[in-house]
Amino acid sequence: MKYRVKDVTLANAGKQRIDWAESHMPVLYALKKKYEISKPLKGFKLTGCLHVTKETGVLIRTLKAAGAELSWCGCNPLSTQDDVAASLANDEEIAIFASRGVSTKEYYEDIHSSMKILPNVTIDDGADLTVEIHNESSSNDKYDLFGGTEETTTGVIRLRALEKSGKLMYPVIAVNDAETKHDFDNVYGTGQSALDGIIRSTNVMVAGKNVVVAGYGHVGKGISRRAAGLGANVIVTEIDPIAALKAKLDGYAVTSMDDASSRGDIFITTTGCKDVINYKHILNMQDGTILANAGHFNVEIAVSELEKNSINKQPINEHVMLYKSQQNKKIYLIGEGRLVNLAAAEGHPSEVMDMSFANQFLAVLKLSKEGKSWKPNVYTVDKSQDQEIAMAKLTSMNVKIDVLTPEQQKYLSGFSEGT
Ligand SMILES: NC(=O)c1ccc[n+]([C@@H]2O[C@H](COP(=O)([O-])OP(=O)(O)OC[C@H]3O[C@@H](n4cnc5c(N)ncnc54)[C@H](O)[C@@H]3O)[C@@H](O)[C@H]2O)c1
Repeated sequence: MKYRVKDVTLANAGKQRIDWAESHMPVLYALKKKYEISKPLKGFKLTGCLHVTKETGVLIRTLKAAGAELSWCGCNPLSTQDDVAASLANDEEIAIFASRGVSTKEYYEDIHSSMKILPNVTIDDGADLTVEIHNESSSNDKYDLFGGTEETTTGVIRLRALEKSGKLMYPVIAVNDAETKHDFDNVYGTGQSALDGIIRSTNVMVAGKNVVVAGYGHVGKGISRRAAGLGANVIVTEIDPIAALKAKLDGYAVTSMDDASSRGDIFITTTGCKDVINYKHILNMQDGTILANAGHFNVEIAVSELEKNSINKQPINEHVMLYKSQQNKKIYLIGEGRLVNLAAAEGHPSEVMDMSFANQFLAVLKLSKEGKSWKPNVYTVDKSQDQEIAMAKLTSMNVKIDVLTPEQQKYLSGFSEGT
């Protein structure tokens, strides 16, 4: 099978949207122009398991222009944009296995179909591909692996656990740990797109609502700021005292989920942890409460208990399910509790994915050159790569910054000059 997409006739629409994204991703586009002649990835096979959005389409085009042979699958059953998948199959001739709304069985079949290329480098988002490769083979002999990259916080946590167990088979670059990734994509990208998903699917007025944000890390901070900007009263729940203190001093109410559960109108989980909103919390909630998750996996909200204990459920639209409890209370769940910004909207804006995917591209390039000599550990992105991407992004936005004079450099690196 060359590819598996929902409807290849959507290719033209998908191509237009990838073109649009490309025109908003100047840093990645400059990398494409830089490497399309020399083709440093020629002879390299790459498998990606990362949300099939128009921005990912631009990353795929860029890797292909640099000479790579690619296969790809989605990293979430509800995040594939079918027109984009169609264009990647039809116009870019990528071996792509992805469609929106796959079952869990199909999801893993797609990962295994994309693995058949026997990649030299894996590009992962959530670590499902990397874990499947590890499950399939206890040794590297079937694969000639130079390394892998990981896009998100949850994936990095899983891979560090694999590294700690001594079972990680090949080096992985934690792209998420780049400052130009998590301080922008997770904060501004998810902040905007999670609210977009909630608003697109419900058209609810955010102003005046109590919005409970579970977790005040990068994603939680971004979402809290955007919700407050729309006029919400933000209530944060946390397990980490430092993060909780930051939320409090940023001006939000902070309390436990036991307490917040009866006060919120809209709940958004952003923790990467499981059982953050359990069924006891749901029983505590007000009639008409809206639930959404922005963390990587659909484990943050007790969806299966909601399913099991509700007396009936009814779709409100493509993205929202109404659950009625035995007490006739209505709870609305967006996107099955999967990441709301991709399930019910288009994911992050192209401008911010420009930096995340420039990091991905440069990490793949580095692995293709050096990965074979690295130990199987999880690596962070070099500071110089972060600086290069930040500078390129600023330049694309016509922003100037100052440069240290030699005297200033000397002052900052010395200790003798005080006053
Ligand atoms: N939706 C998206 O497009 C998108 C984008 C980036 C990251 N993510 C995902 O979002 C999640 C969070 O990422 P991040 O970068 O913000 O991580 P982070 O580590 O910066 O923040 C997570 C926060 O959640 C808190 N937390 C953990 N368990 C909790 C619990 N039970 N109750 C309350 N708070 C809890 C932690 O203390 C921490 O402050 C991850 O799953 C990540 O993969 C999603």
